[in-house]
Amino acid sequence: MQRGAELELPYLTMEEDAFAANPFPHFARARAQHPWLARWVLGYVVTDYKAVRDLFVQEHRMRMMYDSIVEIMQAKGTRWGDFQQRHMLSMMDENHKRIRDVLAPSFTPRAANRNRGLMQEVVNDLLDEWLPKGAFDFEEFASYFPITVMCRLIGASPDVIPNLRAAMEAIGLSTSMDPRWLPAMQEGVVTMEIFVDGLIAGRRAAPRIGEEPDLLDLLLQANASGGMTDRELADVLIFLFVAGYDTSKNMLTLTFWELLDRPDMYRRAGEDHDYAGKVVAETFRFHSTTSSQRILNEDIEYRGVVLEKDAIVWFPLSVATRDERYAANAENFNPERDRSNRHIGFGLGAHICLGQYIAQAQIHEGLHAICRRIANPRSPGPQGYRPFPGTWGLRGLPIAFDQAETSKGS
Ligand code: HEM
Repeated sequence: MQRGAELELPYLTMEEDAFAANPFPHFARARAQHPWLARWVLGYVVTDYKAVRDLFVQEHRMRMMYDSIVEIMQAKGTRWGDFQQRHMLSMMDENHKRIRDVLAPSFTPRAANRNRGLMQEVVNDLLDEWLPKGAFDFEEFASYFPITVMCRLIGASPDVIPNLRAAMEAIGLSTSMDPRWLPAMQEGVVTMEIFVDGLIAGRRAAPRIGEEPDLLDLLLQANASGGMTDRELADVLIFLFVAGYDTSKNMLTLTFWELLDRPDMYRRAGEDHDYAGKVVAETFRFHSTTSSQRILNEDIEYRGVVLEKDAIVWFPLSVATRDERYAANAENFNPERDRSNRHIGFGLGAHICLGQYIAQAQIHEGLHAICRRIANPRSPGPQGYRPFPGTWGLRGLPIAFDQAETSKGS
């Protein structure tokens, strides 16, 4: 048995901009040196699909690391720091389960499918607004999609969208742990708190009568019956926006980017709704955007290595299925491939993404409409990349295109 601290492990410079520009060869090299474990500045990195799955089964022996993130950022007692320590991903055990149980019925596959019409409407309205520009930044365009869908789900006015977008751009950098972003993140949390407080007060003052309850009505009912406190209600609303924003935006942008050099796939994704879904599934395998992090409550032994108590362990969910051992011709972007090793881009365990069905439906409907209505897209390529340890993705994707003849209807 060897202690992890004594092992000579590959070192990943995940925090560097150059790493974010193309993370995948770094992980391939690390796996060639050690089959499942590497190190970075903040601890261990698990680089193998099966190891991520096996270790996540032992999640009850780990804790969330948001307290440490707040400490590293020297932000204890600030609005951003407090939110990081309170939000859903920070919660454990009974409290977490109670909140998750309240939310679960609104986030089923069926609930997501019921909202596909709304998602189509939102993306088509956005395309109506943006297509006449003739050229634009795809990432910026894509950013309006998840916020607008979320606003529609909770009955918020579209006037708030630009303000919320700026706030979420900032809060999305939280797990990058780069102190440069702290003032913007603080401001972002304050903006979101003011927004949800106003939203809740507005709905309490003027309840919707005789209409199908929306997500906000359901959360208010849970609050009224003692299922969640006022603070938890506000935090959950903020977190739903934050959790779904740059994850979905980055994923849609990465999917579109992959198709730019594959005009046949692009055309087909616009013509064939099912095929567009396969393209989205393949992008989740090929890229995905997120990492999970945990701190070990005790020593954990795995494949002859002891990972020490209090070590930080990073699970880069995005890289796990870009590996020949789990996907034949792993470097080949192939929407029709066998998917017996499911991607884990939505995480695993007790905190597995609550919004995963909404996210998938949203990106699927978005991609299908975009491929139908934006013809022959061209781009000089991304202008930069988001930090890898946070929510990874492209930073800016300028495009020019021809207008397709196709009308809105699918
Ligand atoms: C491409 C889009 C998305 C990706 C890749 C993604 C990924 C993830 C991952 C990996 C986790 C687990 C993190 C961990 O355990 O450390 C998570 C949690 C979560 N996500 Fe998502 N997400 C996406 C979209 C969404 C959307 C659209 C929503 C809401 C509308 C959402 C709501 C949540 C919530 C509430 C949690 C916390 C669940 C809990 O703590 O029990 N996500 N997401």
